[in-house]
Amino acid sequence: MKRNFLMGAAALAALATLSACGGKQADDTAAPAATDTAAATPAMTETPAAAAADGAKVEYASFTTDVAAGEKTFALCRSCHVLDEGVNRVGPSLYNVVGRQAGSVAGYSYSDANKGSGVTWTEEVLFEYLEDPKAFMPGTKMAFPGIKDAQDRANLVAYLASTKK
Ligand code: HEC
Repeated sequence: MKRNFLMGAAALAALATLSACGGKQADDTAAPAATDTAAATPAMTETPAAAAADGAKVEYASFTTDVAAGEKTFALCRSCHVLDEGVNRVGPSLYNVVGRQAGSVAGYSYSDANKGSGVTWTEEVLFEYLEDPKAFMPGTKMAFPGIKDAQDRANLVAYLASTKK
């Protein structure tokens, strides 16, 4: 069951990739996938991210954000992070994380990659980092695959910003 589902998802992802790249390469490649409505519909839910895949850099500032939705998305982080000051779990406290210097929470044992990154966690940087943490910061020990949907990510970052004291 699970395996079948995964294969289905992989096939859809491949389709999405095909249609996203179609415009740039052979115009014909995308056409058959696009005419197959059943297959094209699930891929349509990828539309905000597809804009990013198109090569255009998606700017955090271009999103209208929903803080309440972002709070729900923060559920993805709760297994490892809390927002309380000085409370470190698997990951460091995210208290006042927006505007904070990377690797600066006292008492947390960071990887060299995070500690030495020189990054300041602005909203824009968080927006980029959370898409694919390991790509943004090679060597980080944050075991999180990232949030691919740019709108979800923007909402989450807006929520984090709203918790700043
Ligand atoms: C599986 C556990 C886990 C999950 C889930 C997780 N993180 Fe992390 N996170 C970590 C760890 C571990 C680190 C420390 C990384 C290092 O030192 O390399 C970290 C580091 C960070 C940092 C850098 C903090 C600093 O002080 O420099 C930010 C920002 C962050 N996480 C945000 C998030 C957000 C937002 C989410 C949810 C979308 C999330 N993380 C989900 C484990 C996790």
